[in-house]
Parts: sequence; C-alpha cells; structure tokens
Amino acid sequence: MVSVILGTQWGDEGKGKIVDLLAEKSDFVVRFHGGNNAGHTIYSGNKKYPLHLIPSGILNPNSKCVIANGVIVDLEVLVSEIEMFFSDGIEFKNRFFISDRCHLILPYHKALDLAYENARGEKKLGTTARGIGPCYADKVSYNGIRIYELKDWDLFSEKFVFQSEMKNKILDSFGVAPLNTERELERLAELREIVLPFITDTYQLLQKALSENKKILMEGAQAVMLDLDFSPYPFCTGSNTIPGAINTGAGIPIQKIGSISGIVKAYTSRVGSGPFPTELKDKLGDDLREKGKEFGTTTGRPRRVGWLDLEAVKFACEVSGVTEIIITKIDILSGLEKIKACIGYELDGKPIPYSSCGYLELEKLTPVFKEFSGWTEDIMQVKSFADLPKTCQEYVKFIEDFLDITVKLISTGPKREEFLEIRN
Ligand code: IMP
Repeated sequence: MVSVILGTQWGDEGKGKIVDLLAEKSDFVVRFHGGNNAGHTIYSGNKKYPLHLIPSGILNPNSKCVIANGVIVDLEVLVSEIEMFFSDGIEFKNRFFISDRCHLILPYHKALDLAYENARGEKKLGTTARGIGPCYADKVSYNGIRIYELKDWDLFSEKFVFQSEMKNKILDSFGVAPLNTERELERLAELREIVLPFITDTYQLLQKALSENKKILMEGAQAVMLDLDFSPYPFCTGSNTIPGAINTGAGIPIQKIGSISGIVKAYTSRVGSGPFPTELKDKLGDDLREKGKEFGTTTGRPRRVGWLDLEAVKFACEVSGVTEIIITKIDILSGLEKIKACIGYELDGKPIPYSSCGYLELEKLTPVFKEFSGWTEDIMQVKSFADLPKTCQEYVKFIEDFLDITVKLISTGPKREEFLEIRN
C-alpha cells in the first residue's frame, strides 16, 4: 500500500509532476525528509504552483498531505505556501497535517548557512542557503527546537532566545551582524498562530492509514545522489534521501513499502558545487539548460547540465531498491542529432564503479559514453510507446536494459496530461 517516488540523480528530475499525477490515486501524500531546499512545480490548468514544503498532492481534493517528522520546517515558507493556496480558494483544512516532531528551521540557521558558505570562499558547496545543514546539525547536537515546542509559547520563547543568543556569538565570530532576537520572536508568534491548526501526531495518523489499507505515496525530496551518506560527502544535502529515511522520517516500517519508483531525467542536472562526470560545459549544455528550463525552483540559480549518467543512476537504483523507472523530460532531447549516455567510469585505464568513488576520483575519472541517434519529431503529444520515434524508443529500451528495471511511465512535457504509460 505504500509507494515511493525518488529522484535517482541530483534532484530536479521532475518528481513534482509525477507525484501530482500519482496523487490522484493516493489517499495520502507524505514528505519524510529535507526541507524547503526542495522545489517542485505543479500545475492546475495553466496556473503554476511552485512548492517547497507542502506535498505535491495538495491539488487533489481526495488526498491528505502530510509533512512527517523527518522534515525540517521553515514557518515563514510554510505560511507563504498556505496563503498562496488560500488566496486561490484552495482549502485544505482537514487534509493537511504537520508532525509535531518536525524540527524548525529558524532565522539563525539561515544566517549560519550563509556565514559558513561565505567562509568557505572559493570552496563553497553551493547550498540552497535555506539553513538545511545547520538545522539538521542542531537536531543531532540536541540544540534543535521541535514544532512540538510551539504549543507552549513561554517554553518556546525561552529556548529560542537561548539558542539565538548562542548563534549570535558564532555569527559574530564570522563578522556577521547579530540577529534581532526579539523581532524574530515576534514574527514567529504570528506564524505560529497560522500553523498550529495543522499540527498533529502524524505517526498515529499514518499508522491508522496503514491499518485501513489506505494508499500512501511517499514523496522523496532532493535525490539519491545527494544522500548524506551515499553521496561524495560533503557535496550532499543534510538528510538521508534513500528509502531508509521513510522509516526514520515518518515511522512507516520498511516492510510496508510496496513499490519504489525511481525518476530518471533523460539527461542530468545538478545545482551547487561537486563532481559531475558527464557535465556539458559547452553550447550544447547551454542549449539544454535553456530548453529544459534548468533554473532552480528554489534559488533561481542556473543548473549545471550534462548527459545521462547511467553508472550513477544504476547505483542509485541499487542502493534504493528501485522497482520501476519513470523517465522524465525526454522531450527536451528532441532535435539533437546525437545523444550520449554514460555507461561506466574509467580511472587510470581501469573500470571503477560509482560506489567506489569519492569526490577526488569522480573529478578525475573518464566517463565511458554510448552514442545514440537522436530524433527530430515533437513528442509531447505522443500517447503510446509505439508512436515514439524509433530512435527515441531505442534510447528508452537501452535505459531499461542497462538498469534491468522496467520503465513504467515516460513524461513528455511539463503539463499533467503530457505523459505516456508503458505499463499499468
Ligand atoms: P542544502 O540542501 O541547501 O544544504 O544544499 C546542499 C546541496 O544539495 C547543494 O548542492 C544544493 O544545490 C543541493 N540541493 C539541495 N536541495 C536540492 C533540490 O531539491 N534539488 C537539487 N539540488 C538540491
């Protein structure tokens, strides 16, 4: 009854649209890790909704949306998303829930994220500056503040003031102006009023849903290649992004997981620093970025783009136990004479698997490419696999054979109806 959507690359694979599509068949859509570093765009007709925190199923009136305990929450962002929907008349009173166990991203986390990045100078990691790393660091060093604590304002205020003043000392050591604790607290008091009605014990909610055999869709954020443990650290995000995080981040036992859909973008993109073996630094890369609108939903930053890296995707599928593949943005490759995909790595003339590479190896190695003939046809309206151009079919078939996992769905455009189902 539990199905999972995961990005198999460095994020921005187009998960939001797929979750939105699958949410129609789901009773619950749940986020279980990460924060508002995620950015998903969903559409209702021509109306575009950029989302960073609220699960992508929110446009489906029959789905309940849950921000489970593994997510870290910036109240300012959450409230702006709630208000964006309310101002469009989209109500979700009894179908949006936030775990009281979630940790809060507080103003000093964002200030620290920036201060650390600035201190790294040339070696900055390119974080989204949303306070993700510092917030998770506070969580594991017992300095975090949970949403739970918002229930008792005096207790919350005391903790916030203590933490804020401690963080001001750190900021001062970086030469950064201190935060105005009192003003931040006043703002938090306003935000608290708006979010309190949505706060609940989501563990109980989800256990009940499991016992009633409800369909639960787990919405992965970021992607497997940014996993805190399985990425070339420190070029990662602050949370585990693989399905193990479903157990810790939502309390759902792993035996309950039925299917794990791995989203594979037909080419690769990444934001921020870090190794990228198949990166295209030429005009072709610029063209793909423009055509694929590869600019961050969260930060607006231009994304780095490159060919599909099947060596990395194979690892991502393996470590996550992906049971089916969904290919996205294949339409962006239309019009290219030749398409390439990386099918392995070589270091000093010898093959090396992705999992054995740290960032030093990934920066030095040589990707081994396979070349495919492209296609010129516009495929956005194509509704069956057989109607895709032959060369496009060959590219998809190769991905399927290489990964040895069934391709279930192909997304051929940004709109909800632009997809073709290969297997039901
Ligand atoms: P952080 O998660 O903001 O700490 O950023 C750490 C790294 O993860 C940076 O390279 C970010 O660009 C990247 N990152 C974080 N969230 C996303 C996402 O949702 N999509 C793509 N990259 C992300």
